[in-house]
Amino acid sequence: MKNILITGATGQIGTELTMALRERYGADNVIASGLTNIPDAVIRAAGHFHFIDCTNKARIAEIVKRHDIDTIYHLAALLSAVAEDHPNLAWEVNVGGLYNVLEVARENNCAVFTPSSIGAFGPETPTVNTPQVTIQRPTSMYGVTKVTGELLCDYYHAKLGVDTRGVRYPGIISYKAPPGGGTTDYAIAIFIAALKEKKYTCYLKADTKLDMMYMPDALKAAIEVMEAEPKSLKHRNAFNVTAMSVTPALLAEEIRKHIPEFEITYEIDPVRQEIADSWPDKLDDTCARDEWGWTPSYDLSSMTADMLKNLSE
Ligand code: SER
Repeated sequence: MKNILITGATGQIGTELTMALRERYGADNVIASGLTNIPDAVIRAAGHFHFIDCTNKARIAEIVKRHDIDTIYHLAALLSAVAEDHPNLAWEVNVGGLYNVLEVARENNCAVFTPSSIGAFGPETPTVNTPQVTIQRPTSMYGVTKVTGELLCDYYHAKLGVDTRGVRYPGIISYKAPPGGGTTDYAIAIFIAALKEKKYTCYLKADTKLDMMYMPDALKAAIEVMEAEPKSLKHRNAFNVTAMSVTPALLAEEIRKHIPEFEITYEIDPVRQEIADSWPDKLDDTCARDEWGWTPSYDLSSMTADMLKNLSE
């Protein structure tokens, strides 16, 4: 990895991944890009930033050539709740954008990291210890785009020789940049509300169990899967990765260990509840552990303590 391009660099993961990659590979070698009008000041100050709309293939190619890019971290995408509101745009960005990135990568010999998601699974998927390879059939537009992306990435590797890799992220919990309209966003909002108001109204039912991960582990997964020895990878794209399996009630209980007066109430959003109900409770990430040594550093208790400490500062 000499020169890296990140798309979606102003998003929740992109903001932090840009900084982590710059620390690891040098600020000049990591080119951030995004669509937002006011890119994160930190990202701009610390290195190159370009406006890239991933539905514009020529623009991606121009920046790849200009900076002699050999690795693309392609993060630009609509999350699940927003995708459900704007299904056409979700297809255009999540599938069209990825297709453009893969084509540019094929033409310019770049490796590509693309995140898939727990959203790539559906109601017929085994919910507990969800295997790496299993029935998917998602029912949300987000899921449809993610499965398509997984298959496209596999095809570009198997048939066209592009070094594609990726993970299926669970809900990502972080405090630096806000999430962009996902079903798992409650797991961040709950911390902010707990500190500010000592109470939170959750849009998912108390016992809705989903996989989650703290941002430092999400960054570690993205970096390690790209650095893995190719010959050790039997799967390449869409590795199941998880760190904890939580419900709103469990998260509230953990927060109460730090803020005893914290209260949670529930007002269910039917759209996000239906999406969450169609996703697994707990992924089996054995393949990631065996093939490239994946192991998370944060569990529910250490993540909660760290979130509250950082957010209160
Ligand atoms: N956090 C994402 C969402 O809720 C899942 O990949 O959309």
